[in-house]
Amino acid sequence: MTLGEVLSATTGYLARKGVDTPRLDAELILAHAFSLSRLQLYTDFDRPLNEKERSEARALVERRGRREPLAYVLGEWGFRRLTLKTDARALVPRPETEIVVERALARIVGIAAPAVVDVGTGSGAIGLSIVDEHPGARVTAIDLSADALALARENAERLGLELELIEADLLVGIDGPFDLVVSNPPYVTAAELPGLQAEVRDWEPRGAVVGDRETEQLARDARRVIRPGGWIVLECHEGHAAGVAAMLADLGYLEVVITRDLAGRERVVEATWAPTL
Ligand SMILES: C[S@@+](CC[C@H](N)C(=O)[O-])C[C@H]1O[C@@H](n2cnc3c(N)ncnc32)[C@H](O)[C@@H]1O
Repeated sequence: MTLGEVLSATTGYLARKGVDTPRLDAELILAHAFSLSRLQLYTDFDRPLNEKERSEARALVERRGRREPLAYVLGEWGFRRLTLKTDARALVPRPETEIVVERALARIVGIAAPAVVDVGTGSGAIGLSIVDEHPGARVTAIDLSADALALARENAERLGLELELIEADLLVGIDGPFDLVVSNPPYVTAAELPGLQAEVRDWEPRGAVVGDRETEQLARDARRVIRPGGWIVLECHEGHAAGVAAMLADLGYLEVVITRDLAGRERVVEATWAPTL
């Protein structure tokens, strides 16, 4: 079989398995398997593949056919300026979380060495991007999952970026002061889980996806560690932004702002902690 024939057979197979973007996924998996660019898949369209090449690609394609997330199959994923190692130890970093980083960076711009805490760091996506894009930032990254922290550590080492990693339940036992508390906490309700895509429901760590108390608990506790005038930036469920904004205002935060993601969904809520003494 030629590369072109394998590409079209793979596309058909992934479509039958219910993958949303079968052609794109087929291209990315085969390009990865054969160490080619996507463009080279087409310039090498007529190249015959030997059995060894085909069986290596088949193993990856079958994983994707079982609806394992593409980022886990490829083993790495782009997030802002970084390429992060990705596997089943942590959530796949999402495009909307890039907006969280953008808002977080906007709140520490002009501070030479801001102290930042990324709560629920997972792969390290948020914390590592902040260190990368604001080189003076001193970032503490927290997770309840030792597996996620191990992945974040591997990412920090691969990228040569400094991150202090701590295993903790939200901010329990963590002392400030921080200029910024940033988090993408788990916020999918248990009732919603069965209706989610197989990739999320069956493969991503449940503790990274499902949660209900985390957002409010974090907002409550953050008041203890944010320096006056510092900020909290939270990713939230697309249907929860107004509720999260109201909760922050009730807790005494000021200047509450909601930001939409690129799809127009309200996904990021930020506010400042400036208690009047
Ligand atoms: C939605 S994922 C976000 C991962 C990463 N920050 C990102 O945006 O891609 C939530 C993360 O919070 C962690 N987590 C869940 N409950 C936690 C808790 N009580 N304390 C600390 N981390 C928690 C999970 O293990 C998971 O890594």
